[in-house]
Amino acid sequence: MPKEVVLTGLRTNGAYHLGNYIGGILPILKLIQDNQASSYQINLFAPDLHSFTTPTNLDKLNQQTLENLKLFVACGVPLDDNNVNLYRQSYISAHSELTWILSNFTSWGEMSRMTEFKDKINQFKSGNQITVGLFSYPILMAADILLYDATWIPVGEDQRQHLEFCRNLAQRFNQRFKKDIFKIPADFNKQQDWLKRFEAPRIRSLKHPDKKMSKSIADPKGTIMLSDTSEEIAQKITSAQTDNLASIDYDWQNQPGITNLLSILAYLNSKSLSDIKQNWRGQSDYSNLKQAVIQSVQATLNEIQNSLKSVSDTVVLNHLKNREVKLNKIANQKLQQIQKIIGLR
Ligand code: TRP
Repeated sequence: MPKEVVLTGLRTNGAYHLGNYIGGILPILKLIQDNQASSYQINLFAPDLHSFTTPTNLDKLNQQTLENLKLFVACGVPLDDNNVNLYRQSYISAHSELTWILSNFTSWGEMSRMTEFKDKINQFKSGNQITVGLFSYPILMAADILLYDATWIPVGEDQRQHLEFCRNLAQRFNQRFKKDIFKIPADFNKQQDWLKRFEAPRIRSLKHPDKKMSKSIADPKGTIMLSDTSEEIAQKITSAQTDNLASIDYDWQNQPGITNLLSILAYLNSKSLSDIKQNWRGQSDYSNLKQAVIQSVQATLNEIQNSLKSVSDTVVLNHLKNREVKLNKIANQKLQQIQKIIGLR
């Protein structure tokens, strides 16, 4: 039986923050650790071609991609695990070619319904800044997934529609050519159930605990970068927004700031939420809680920053090159099957 493929693309346009770590990197580390039985092939890639769809410093794109992949390694992604493939999208050109092919099996109307695109274009002042690349970005994402017959795609709620689009496109293609050429990834709800085993929480902004922690909402004080110093961490957490109830409870509705801090504490200490809730429930001194969070975040980030120092470019580049050769073979094989079916060969 071929292994089920877990596949996810981690945008590397900018530096990572604590929300990326807890919601994106930690679940993957858990998944890799739990994969003792080696039942999964785990594909983690940098969607560098996707970087063009939003403003990006192109001078630094290649370097930034490498830096972020190094950070993965510093966080604990093992390079010597044969079931783990780290790679760069643009180094496997089948992604681009399949995107073009799939574009011709996607209607304008269907693409126009993507809400992420509609949300994003509202941020642009002039239509001239909105590219066709941003519009058709979900097709590239579908190609990323379909080339490797991936089943499990750990992504957040914001990618639900893109995943559903990928499934529809694959089903339509299979029906059109009467062949099971594409494997249909699991639907979003199944993905979420599967992902729950590896816990993928959303961490909120320290300043605006009603919003998720993000670099894009111009919220530097609410966002802890993985490169922050101990002082910066302490400052940001000390000034985190809480409430005046003077009683700690895990309650997103009425105490989102406190609840966010409790969550950070739980995930960084690998404690269950119920343990954390029990430990803190009813206590009134918020500064105690903040102090505990500061210590946990500092300890975690210090460790990551220290191990990053010993992650060498060469070792990561060697892994990338090795895996890119391997995956080019797989992707090209798939592409050739598709070229045949649609009449190009
Ligand atoms: N669109 C994803 C994001 O913005 C990144 C991504 C690109 C991706 N290709 C993918 C995620 C394929 C999963 C599978 O976060």
